[in-house]
Order: sequence, then structure tokens, then C-alpha cells
Amino acid sequence: MKTLVLTAHPDLNKSRINRAWFDALSEAADVTTRDLTAIGDGELRFDIEAEQALLLAHDRIVFQFPFYWYSAPPVMKAWMDQVLNYGFAYGPGGDKLKGREFLILVSTGGPEHSYHAGGYNNFTIAEFLKPFQQTANLAGMTYLRPFVAHGMAVATREQIEENVPLMLAYLSDPELDPKVRQARLLKQLEDDPSLAAAVS
Ligand SMILES: Cc1cc2nc3c(=O)[nH]c(=O)nc-3n(C[C@H](O)[C@H](O)[C@H](O)COP(=O)(O)O)c2cc1C
Repeated sequence: MKTLVLTAHPDLNKSRINRAWFDALSEAADVTTRDLTAIGDGELRFDIEAEQALLLAHDRIVFQFPFYWYSAPPVMKAWMDQVLNYGFAYGPGGDKLKGREFLILVSTGGPEHSYHAGGYNNFTIAEFLKPFQQTANLAGMTYLRPFVAHGMAVATREQIEENVPLMLAYLSDPELDPKVRQARLLKQLEDDPSLAAAVS
């Protein structure tokens, strides 16, 4: 499984959690990391063919970013607008990403409890990320459950250090693909009829 991590932070040198994630992922096996701000030439312009070739060389695509105004920083959108184009990611012949996995790695300033109905952010992270989910769907990719680090604007150094191994463990979970997890649960039910009786 080869993973491509596209990091969209306006300044990784001023970042804490995204910097820590980026550095750890850069050391991980079978992972390619890309700091989109450094690559996007200051004008947020990308070499489309080079970016698409990288996508084709990986099985899982990760978008990594801090949550800015309930979405990703603009460099992420600029990359999407240029690279996920007609005939590549959608439209006739646009099936080049089909079957690959897509995962979001996001840090928020707001605490976990704020991202619920009735909380001060009112909506869940899953709700805010729907445009990304549908982008993955349209491109035929498998949308994996995002990894979210909440409360990161005021996180202590210890909290950041503790988060990094959690993130790495999450990415190496062999059952991240919901179809794999469901297949195992179905097999458990098949193998042990008493479980099936309990859920029916
Ligand atoms: C322009 C801007 C917009 C932000 N918008 C949000 C937001 O909508 N929701 C939220 O929870 N945090 C928001 N934050 C806080 C960041 O998500 C938080 O500082 C970041 O995840 C910390 O990551 P870093 O250490 O890698 O920079 C915002 C921060 C900035 C600078």
C-alpha cells in the first residue's frame, strides 16, 4: 500500500500539529509527503502532469490540513481545481483514481464537543467535509473515515507528541476500508451462529 500525503498548510514552519504529522509521515515506510505550499510556487500553480503521475503511483491519497473556516486552506482547493480535472478524475475516461482510497487528516482549533448539533460549531466534522467526500465519490475513490485532532490551537507539547503515534496507528489499521471491516464482521457471524442469533 503506497500512500501519498498532500499537506495544505500555509506555513508549516509556524505549524505545530501539522508539522509534527508531516515530519512523522515523511519518515514512515511507503509514504510520500508533499508540502503543497512549498510546491505551489507562491501563486498556487501546480505542474498538473507531475501531480497526476504521483496520484497514479499511489494507492491511498491523504489530504492533510488544519481546519480553516470549516474547510481546508486555499492551497488545497487550488490543487484540487487544477489536478482533479475532466478526463482524469471525472467525465469520459475520467476514471484514473477509481478504486484508490481517500482519507482526510485534519486538525481543528475548536474542541470535540463544539462539533455536534447544539455545540457552538453546530455541525459534525463529517458534515463539514461532505464536499471532499463527494469529490472522492465522483472520482470513484473509497472514502475512509477521517482522522481528526481537536483542540489543536491550544494543545500542549505533550498532547501533540501523544497525537502523532495515534495518527500513525490509525493509518496502519488494516480495516480502515469499511468493506474490509464489514466482511470480517459478516465472517464472524457466519462462523459463530450464536452471534447471528443475538443480532437478529
Ligand atoms: C484562518 C484560520 C481559520 C481557522 N478556522 C477554524 C475553524 O473553522 N474551525 C476550527 O476549529 N479551527 C479553526 N482555526 C484553528 C486551526 O484549525 C488550528 O489553529 C490548527 O488546526 C492548528 O494546526 P497547526 O498547529 O498545524 O497550525 C482557524 C485558524 C486560522 C488561522
